[in-house]
Amino acid sequence: MWGGRFAEGPAAVMREINASIPFDKRLWQQDIAASKAHAAMLGATGILSAADAQAICDGLDAVALDYARDGVPEDLALEDIHMVTETRLAEKIGSVAGRLHTARSRNDQVATDFKLWVRDAMDAVASGLRALRWAIVARAEEHADSVMPGFTHLQSAQPVTLGHHLMAWHEMIRRDASRFADARVRLNQCPLGSAALAGTGFPIDRAQTAAVLGFDGPTANSLDSVSDRDFALDYLMAASQCALHLSRMAEEVVIWASQPFGFVALPDAWSTGSSIMPQKRNPDAAELVRGHAGRIIGCTTALMITMKGLPLAYSKDMQDDKPPVFEAHDLLALSLAAMTGMIESLTFRTDRMRALAESGFATATDLADWLVREANVPFREAHHITGQAVKLAEAKGCGLADLALVDLKGIDPRIEEGVFSVLSVDASVMSRTSHGGTAPSGVRTRIAEARMALERNT
Ligand code: ARG
Repeated sequence: MWGGRFAEGPAAVMREINASIPFDKRLWQQDIAASKAHAAMLGATGILSAADAQAICDGLDAVALDYARDGVPEDLALEDIHMVTETRLAEKIGSVAGRLHTARSRNDQVATDFKLWVRDAMDAVASGLRALRWAIVARAEEHADSVMPGFTHLQSAQPVTLGHHLMAWHEMIRRDASRFADARVRLNQCPLGSAALAGTGFPIDRAQTAAVLGFDGPTANSLDSVSDRDFALDYLMAASQCALHLSRMAEEVVIWASQPFGFVALPDAWSTGSSIMPQKRNPDAAELVRGHAGRIIGCTTALMITMKGLPLAYSKDMQDDKPPVFEAHDLLALSLAAMTGMIESLTFRTDRMRALAESGFATATDLADWLVREANVPFREAHHITGQAVKLAEAKGCGLADLALVDLKGIDPRIEEGVFSVLSVDASVMSRTSHGGTAPSGVRTRIAEARMALERNT
């Protein structure tokens, strides 16, 4: 490739450290598409003859067919996907292949190929997130009225509905979808034509290549274009945030599937057994989703650290941008599919959830609120009175609703019969009608909105 200047070939280890073909062969479709767009533009602008441009495009199609059939040959001597493709092209069409690299450099080429790949990855994640949102919404609708304990500090706090809890997951995933959508908008400018770093003197048409490749337009600064990897970092940061959400959801599945909780049962298809303990039914998929989040965040850290000290414009360190993005994407796609599958097939033990909601004094706040509302007691005082009622119920080994009115009156004479209407878990969730609260009516409204947003593709 640079034989004009060099007398000797590279040392074997030099060849090995320099080569990216073992991983960047994954860019082959993008490399062919961007090369065809470039060749067609060179033809259209008269930089190449129409016949040469056509020969190059046809040759690239033939190379693509070979790749699709046989895979990309991993020739370390050819270094990367760009050189492998150009060499294959020369084998097909002879020396005219050497004209393809006019007004182009591998620096703008790799930036373009990688952007195209990351854009496809973002689109794949977007559809994975949609599938997950549909799955969550369906289960939430099914359980809009199912009462469960809501937790803070993992302590029973106030009753909520399972539908409300699941819709909290939906909100997390909806924000992830919007993060990927934002990143895609920012990504969508085409670096092709920035050449090595300074642009080119050939009368290229950057708007044409940008349009053919589905970009909104060409990038504005050639130096930035070949050194910018923000789009990869945007992808990774959105992926990390999403993985973090999936991990928190997975953690809840693990907790809920444990015997002391018993909130969910995983079907055989989503559990593993133990080689030694026959009673075991382990939530391995959820644990691995939780585990993969660590690896995805690691990939993000890796690329941030690769980029942090680099001067403009291209440095070879940037070749290391691809493995973490590929790894993170594979892990995220798998995690999304696993989480969607689990949510679709979980059995929710609503009887168990209800029993726990009823046992943890979860309606204590309702008693305090009743004192504020019906007896005009200041909230702080109501909190204190309620604390005494909880203490009494604890001593008697019963729930708040099981206390006798005379016992409650013994704590505070302002308590009346009417208090019992707010002490049940159903009354409690039904009363939480503030916007975004757990009342089943409100949850149903949020579910309807989520369905409409999904149908409108937002
Ligand atoms: N394989 C290289 C990469 O992935 C392509 C760009 C090489 N450019 C260069 N000037 N050596 O980054």
